[in-house]
Amino acid sequence: MLDRYGRSIDYLRLSITDRCNLRCRYCMPEEGVPPLSHGDILSYEELLRVAEAAVALGVRKIRITGGEPLVRKGVTSFIARLAALPGSPEIVLTTNGFLLAPLVSKLREAGLARVNVSLDTLRPERFVAITRRQGLDQVLDGLEAATAAGLTPLKLNMVPIAGVNDDEIADFARLSLARPWQVRFIEYMPVVDDLGYPPEARVPAAQIESILAGLGNLTSIPRADVAGPARLFRYEGAVGSLGIIPAVSHHFCGECNRLRVTADGRVRPCLFSNDEVLLRQSLREGADSDRLQKLLAATVSAKPERHRIGEEDFTPGNRPMHGIGG
Ligand code: GTP
Ligand code: 5AD
Ligand code: SF4
Repeated sequence: MLDRYGRSIDYLRLSITDRCNLRCRYCMPEEGVPPLSHGDILSYEELLRVAEAAVALGVRKIRITGGEPLVRKGVTSFIARLAALPGSPEIVLTTNGFLLAPLVSKLREAGLARVNVSLDTLRPERFVAITRRQGLDQVLDGLEAATAAGLTPLKLNMVPIAGVNDDEIADFARLSLARPWQVRFIEYMPVVDDLGYPPEARVPAAQIESILAGLGNLTSIPRADVAGPARLFRYEGAVGSLGIIPAVSHHFCGECNRLRVTADGRVRPCLFSNDEVLLRQSLREGADSDRLQKLLAATVSAKPERHRIGEEDFTPGNRPMHGIGG
């Protein structure tokens, strides 16, 4: 599928639930978000039909997101069915890691290729301050269990926020010396403006890079060898690598290859575009695969050229991150 700007769209992000077992401050308020009801979210059957139509249109990679995808019952059998679709798309998952350790072998058996884990601090008290829940040990166990089970290369996503956890950039970077992980620093994005932190809390990519460079002999991994939005680096002799996702300062929209399906069954052309196409209704009115493919193709045509964060005409999206899946 090519969009209006010549980008090839071959990556689908499926949010399978809006629920989460954590409450990260930049993503979800503690209270007052009524979860979607059972009937509002797409069933696994419906999600499979969407995935099948997307694969028929050329999607090669499907990322399962949330909320937190591992809180939805039956996720491992769902993954097995996705992996068995004609064309054998690569199935990957983004998780907060809390439920990962007990599920790794089932996920592996189901055909999951690898996981990305979101973790913003290595300090137990701070973990509670950021996520409003206890659980750092479970997440760390999840990282080790996923690594041992071969759900690799494992990527660790850290969102540095000034005054909250930016003093841990160095600790995270050092993890790449001895662990085979790609430790990625993501610029905080103002996805909706009534949540989380002000724009000044963003730690720009250039500042992250200078902190990383101050810690050791950092070499840049050539862009040609890299898929995805991160700029990659490595310390001499390190087992793992480092990535910076400059989501705001050097957006990677020119290389965007993705479509997102929200848990309530809308396809979203961009994190920041509210121009959603309602799939759920069509699914429930008996749309066949041809019709679903047309709806997905229409969303691809609606993809904007780029986001406008930081510009005068920027308007934040209408959904917080947990409603989109990152
Ligand atoms: P890989 O397949 O491992 O490359 O994963 P990924 O980077 O696509 O997925 P992940 O869920 O780990 O996303 C990492 C972060 O990059 C997201 O949480 C967002 O913060 C950011 N990101 C992902 N997609 C987009 C996008 O389309 N636009 C912008 N601005 N940021 C994005
Ligand atoms: N800006 C940047 N990244 C975010 N994430 C959640 N909210 C934001 C935001 N406002 C990240 C999480 C996770 C990924 C799916 O999205 O840390 O790694
Ligand atoms: Fe849950 Fe991820 Fe949002 Fe944190 S960032 S509340 S782990 S969905």
